[in-house]
Amino acid sequence: MEDTPLWLITRHRGALQLLCDSRLSTDPRRVGHPFAAMAAHGRQRAGQFIDMDPPEHDYYRKILISEFGYRRARELRPVIERTAHEVLDEFAADGAADLVGQFGYPFSTRVICHLLGVPAEDSAYFHDCTREMIDSFYDSEKLPLARQKLFDYLDSLVGRSERNPSTDTLIGRLAARQRRTGRPDHDSLVGVVFLLLTAGHQTVANMLSLGTYSLLRHPEQLARVRADPGLWPTAIEELLRFHSIVDWVGFDRVATEEIAVGEHTIAAGEGVFVLGASANRDPEAFLDPDVLDIHRDARRHLAFGFGVHQCIGGNIARVELEVGYRALFDALPGLTVAAELDDSCFRYEARTFGMSRFPVRWQP
Ligand code: HEM
Repeated sequence: MEDTPLWLITRHRGALQLLCDSRLSTDPRRVGHPFAAMAAHGRQRAGQFIDMDPPEHDYYRKILISEFGYRRARELRPVIERTAHEVLDEFAADGAADLVGQFGYPFSTRVICHLLGVPAEDSAYFHDCTREMIDSFYDSEKLPLARQKLFDYLDSLVGRSERNPSTDTLIGRLAARQRRTGRPDHDSLVGVVFLLLTAGHQTVANMLSLGTYSLLRHPEQLARVRADPGLWPTAIEELLRFHSIVDWVGFDRVATEEIAVGEHTIAAGEGVFVLGASANRDPEAFLDPDVLDIHRDARRHLAFGFGVHQCIGGNIARVELEVGYRALFDALPGLTVAAELDDSCFRYEARTFGMSRFPVRWQP
């Protein structure tokens, strides 16, 4: 087999250019795509619009856009606040916890359950399925089984909604659309829900842990944002830039035609990785990029991507992060890191960087 060159795009300018170039495809079934060997087919591919190009991709964005807009994120805020407090109340009296297992994941999982419309009585099973999948990311024997278990659950949940569509939930509204228009079909609807779940809960959980860790390591910045809560939105953009959790393999593409980038030419059929983390630390785009500065205007960061595939959940993620950080620092006074963190506390989960455990303590 002939080796095909693979391009790594490290600078912010090149990343912006390429992420909105329609000659780059995200479809892993195309020859030369970096993940061509792992491309899903048939049922596993249906509804996975992150791996589709326009116009197929446009359909999914269109049917989901009202579920993820700014207004919807604002409407969800009270539920997100309630969820954060419920999760924190479960361990706030203990004085010590693992923030990943006891806060980041339970909080983001319960929010996504609410967002999708997973019934309360299924939430424990749903939580177990997602946890099992995350824990088996690097186990090639266990991962397909864990994926299948979650897939089967979502398949049955979608089936129930199709039989009895309710406009109270996201799945119900998509099922109602299916009744009216015939689309998205059952498999595509399961695929959409699977994608929203996998893209939406571990990312938020990882940002909550990593952001908390960084703020604890920069107590003067934490004190400033706590004294002036109006700074949270700016601080969150900076934390997103600084950590860039969807890093080097997040933006995998293949060129469908020849593309010039600076003095280089990417040929049709060559694979491209846009290195989001590297672009977000490009000194041409951000002054002193390795410094965390919650006052900087980091809004040009690529932590949510750019172009047609830019994160659909960005508005909701921002609310989850602001609510999560604020609730955490308010509920756990004197929060500190409980033990020296070593490499085992950090990990890659599929395409995202995060923490596997984060021991903390506080004065209960
Ligand atoms: C801090 C949290 C999050 C981060 C850092 C993040 C990051 C990203 C990035 C970088 C992409 C673009 C990938 C690409 O271009 O190939 C993306 C896409 C996506 N994200 Fe997020 N995400 C977050 C939260 C969420 C949430 C809460 C949801 C939904 C509940 C979500 C759902 C999606 C979906 C469905 C896509 C695919 C969009 C498309 O292909 O049109 N994400 N995300």
